[in-house]
Amino acid sequence: MQEFNEKNGFSDDVFEVVAGNSGQKETCGSVAPTTLYLTIDGVSKTFKKPLAALNKKAAGGIVALDKVSLEVGKGEIFGILGPNGAGKSTLIKVITGLVIPDSGTVTLDGLDFRRDKHEFMKRVGAQIETPVFFNKKSGWWNLKYLADLQGGLPDQRIKDIVELVGLSSRIKSRVGTYSMGMRQRLGLAQAIMHNPDFLVLDEPINGLDPDGIAQVRDLIRQLRDCYGTTVLFSSHILGEMQTLCDRVAFLASGRLVAVKTRAEIEHGLGDVSVLCVVCDEPNRAAALIGEKYGYRTKVQGTALYVEVKGGNTAEINKTLIENGISVVSFSVKTRTLEEMYKELTR
Ligand SMILES: Nc1ncnc2c1ncn2[C@@H]1O[C@H](COP(=O)(O)OP(=O)(O)OP(=O)(O)O)[C@@H](O)[C@H]1O
Ligand SMILES: [Mg+2]
Repeated sequence: MQEFNEKNGFSDDVFEVVAGNSGQKETCGSVAPTTLYLTIDGVSKTFKKPLAALNKKAAGGIVALDKVSLEVGKGEIFGILGPNGAGKSTLIKVITGLVIPDSGTVTLDGLDFRRDKHEFMKRVGAQIETPVFFNKKSGWWNLKYLADLQGGLPDQRIKDIVELVGLSSRIKSRVGTYSMGMRQRLGLAQAIMHNPDFLVLDEPINGLDPDGIAQVRDLIRQLRDCYGTTVLFSSHILGEMQTLCDRVAFLASGRLVAVKTRAEIEHGLGDVSVLCVVCDEPNRAAALIGEKYGYRTKVQGTALYVEVKGGNTAEINKTLIENGISVVSFSVKTRTLEEMYKELTR
């Protein structure tokens, strides 16, 4: 029987969108957060190209963010997903004040970044792209230095944080000797040192080994569950997004194309699934289903594919049997996060 995977073309060939939304792009979250914490309203950012004067095409610059609006609730774990160049880091930099948007506003717990910058930044802990440290100094020295810049912290607190991110054995080594994953852990340590209300992490699990990924996952959960920390992070690792995030925003070419809850992702990403029925009379079965339910169908050999929208698949099976069709196999496939990611961001 034909497998439901991309290799054999089921997802792309049988139905262009496996469980399609008719190419309709969404522009806002489907479930509003309970207590609003972060509000991003109409944020746009275009980077000027350095050689714009020599290249007419480039004159408009690179649109990194195009009227992005979204809301994150207090204590939410919110993921940002998108291909390279989608605008994830730029959005994170706008949220943390490292990039000034051309238009739009960012408000954190009622604080406007432009008006209340100091208060705003006191709430935020961030790790953005590859963290930069003094390479000739130890991890410990770097953390002490950063802590001192922000008013200082007791050594025991720093020690606890180092322990938490799993860097104790190398914290006295020079940062220049650290592996990528160790630098990530040090970046995470500096982000959480001050016990921020809001943790913003750009690709926090990039370069981490499986143990490191699990530690970061546990840490994020722990921060949220024990301290009510709101966490916003970007990642390319779809599985992590799916297990960790309460909601995931999909960015593509600087635009927010969808926001999905974990439940939507877990339960087939919406109410659409594809049914594969292998039976003795696929053409008659297709006609029956089309007539009775109005679903899109396609026949390939003995297999009949049905795009089911929020319907009861068991009822379809019953209809076929009642009409004398011998069903050899009957399977339902809902979209994986990967399929949804491809669909939304292509
Ligand atoms: N300082 C800059 N100057 C010019 N263009 C920039 C600058 N920063 C980002 N861009 C451009 O803005 C777009 C979005 O970049 P951004 O780094 O936000 O993407 P991303 O989603 O984080 O990608 P990745 O997954 O590769 O990290 C890209 O086209 C990038 O080249
Ligand atoms: Mg990035």
